[in-house]
Amino acid sequence: MTHSRIAGIGHYVPDNIYTNEDLAKFMDTSDEWIQERTGIKERRFATKHEETTATLGARASRIAIERAGTTAEEIDFIIFATLSPDYYFPGSGVILQRELGITKTEIGALDVRNQCSGFIYALSVADQFIKSGMYKNILVVGAEMHSSGLEFNTRGRGVSVIFGDGAGAVVLQPTDEAGKGILNSELHSDGTNAEMLSLLSPGSHGGYHHDDKEQFGFPDKDQLGEIFVTQKIVDDGFLYPHMDGKSVFKKAVVKFPEVITSSLAAVGKTPADIDMLIPHQANLRISQFVQKVLKLNDDQVFNNIQKYGNTTAASIPIALSEAWEQGKIKDNDLVCLAAFGSGFTWGSVVISW
Ligand code: UT7
Repeated sequence: MTHSRIAGIGHYVPDNIYTNEDLAKFMDTSDEWIQERTGIKERRFATKHEETTATLGARASRIAIERAGTTAEEIDFIIFATLSPDYYFPGSGVILQRELGITKTEIGALDVRNQCSGFIYALSVADQFIKSGMYKNILVVGAEMHSSGLEFNTRGRGVSVIFGDGAGAVVLQPTDEAGKGILNSELHSDGTNAEMLSLLSPGSHGGYHHDDKEQFGFPDKDQLGEIFVTQKIVDDGFLYPHMDGKSVFKKAVVKFPEVITSSLAAVGKTPADIDMLIPHQANLRISQFVQKVLKLNDDQVFNNIQKYGNTTAASIPIALSEAWEQGKIKDNDLVCLAAFGSGFTWGSVVISW
């Protein structure tokens, strides 16, 4: 039976390093608060007007494509996961295609909007396309330029100190080698608390999902007028991400172990069999909690949030790429990727490397 294997992997993070002390110049926060709550020491921010989410993705993609021993012209499908796209539409997939100079082949480009678990969703979709025989060389990208839309002041400190910019990419190809490649993937969602980690506007909601409709400053129902963005939305910060951090944290520490354990069980494995767990880098405390619950030792879990912050859809491919570059993932290792975030959506992928 055909499986998908990661034939090439790469990542790119911008050069500009912003430490916690740097952020403290713009808002009432401290290195101590940020490190204690999240483990983050610094993050990278892209250069405005010179870099975009798609260009970050393109840099990671070129490395992945080269390492896969293929060329951009040979890529037969693109899947791009991000919550911070270049434009509201079209999606960044086609912009990436243009950046890579592969428009002549007119291949399809799909955008995935599953935030922190975007890369897991994207990889799982790519895996189905490979297994079905539809495509043979899929570029899967997770990229974020959060710095273009965060509120760098005290009102936004609960969110803005956590996120960073970066991109990771893999090239997925078929393999007939028994027991190799992606062994299983599992995807979940529960929209009950969709607004708990959200960016509400611009959007069509018009207050529909909210008890206090006045808060957005929308025109009356019968009046023609914009509800996509109003002055009140701008003034009151609804253009920025909102996060009920404590509730997200509580749900994450339950769902991470659950989905890791169940996707391993589906292939007859247990957490003890994991050679490397790459958890979405949301918060070092969440990763440490998951590690403890699953009784994993330090060598079995890879974290790099300390250097890059939470890069959402990019965090798993960046961490996977870095772990691989550092020789921490070897041939035949059992690798588990897992994510939880906005939606809520969560999932995991089990790979025999
Ligand atoms: O990747 C997507 C998924 N996201 C997550 O998984 C995030 C999960 N949640 C978390 O990581 C944590 O909840 C946070 C790190 C976001 C926040 O930590 P917390 O311990 O839940 O803090 P909090 O939001 O309850 O805030 C505690 C206090 C508040 O002050 P008061 O009300 O106690 O006076 C905040 O105003 O800390 C204050 N605060 C800050 N202080 C200094 C919030 N942000 C900051 C800040 N610097 N940056």
